Amino acid sequence: MNLSIELFGIRFKNPVWVASGTFGYGLEAMEIYDISKLGAVVTKGISLRPREGNEPPRIVETPCGMLNSIGLQNPGVEGFLEKIYPKIKDVDTHFIANIFGETEEEYVEVCKALEEAEKVVAYELNVSCPNVKKGGIAFGHDPVTLGGLVEKVRSSVKKPVLVKLSPNVTDITEFAKVCVDSGADGLVLINTLLGMRINLRRERPDLSTKVGGLSGPAILPIAVRMVWEVYERFGGQVPIIGVGGITTYEDALEHVYAGASAVQIGTANFYDPYAPLKVIEGIERFMKERNFKDFRQLIGRSHRLDIKT
Ligand code: SIN
Repeated sequence: MNLSIELFGIRFKNPVWVASGTFGYGLEAMEIYDISKLGAVVTKGISLRPREGNEPPRIVETPCGMLNSIGLQNPGVEGFLEKIYPKIKDVDTHFIANIFGETEEEYVEVCKALEEAEKVVAYELNVSCPNVKKGGIAFGHDPVTLGGLVEKVRSSVKKPVLVKLSPNVTDITEFAKVCVDSGADGLVLINTLLGMRINLRRERPDLSTKVGGLSGPAILPIAVRMVWEVYERFGGQVPIIGVGGITTYEDALEHVYAGASAVQIGTANFYDPYAPLKVIEGIERFMKERNFKDFRQLIGRSHRLDIKT
């Protein structure tokens, strides 16, 4: 049985990755399990300069999920290379750097600074963070700006460029099209949905930024629907990485059957750090029970079956 998969010229040992912002750089998880069992680790967003993020409170629980407004706190690309990279460079799995910039040039500069870091095999452009005033969503919500950014980064770097799309748009397939036309090597969907809670004891919004990004099981059906729509339009042309609401292997397989070639586990890491390992085991068990020999048989499978039967 083959769980490994080649995407954008890179072989991943399995299709289960951990999502940006829910796993740091892997250092904490390393203390409790062997993270080389994961298909890949997507880092917390890395920017050109260090960022402290937003004022607290910046996380609040919601029914079946959570809202965050971290604001891309990170040590900056030099801090990452000096302090973190030496601790991850010998881990036997791939790292994908989630990249954030306030301008096109900053995205390019951060990627270029990582070109010689062998353990980082690809870039995931964050054009969908709802928690910052400049960059992020400003790129992900304007097709012309998004196309320009993807083209610029793609033509400036050697490693594969993935784009993490915002669900806070009318038609995500239009944004996927812009990325495909501009040379993206892969699409990651979805980032968090805009949300808000009011704290009745304090009589004001829970988050210092008022609005934040909703993640967790609550968003699974939305993510699956968007993966389905993008696969229907571009299936086969570009790999889709599904993220949003995955806690169990069944959730992960919903993404895969809808069209994802790999999945990322996000919010579940906060309440069950072993969730990604359980998802890998669950997919293996499912494939054995159903006699699937190769994981690729599952990708987009529901599109090939007669809906009425
Ligand atoms: C954050 O740091 O604010 C979350 C990152 C994101 O939503 O992309």
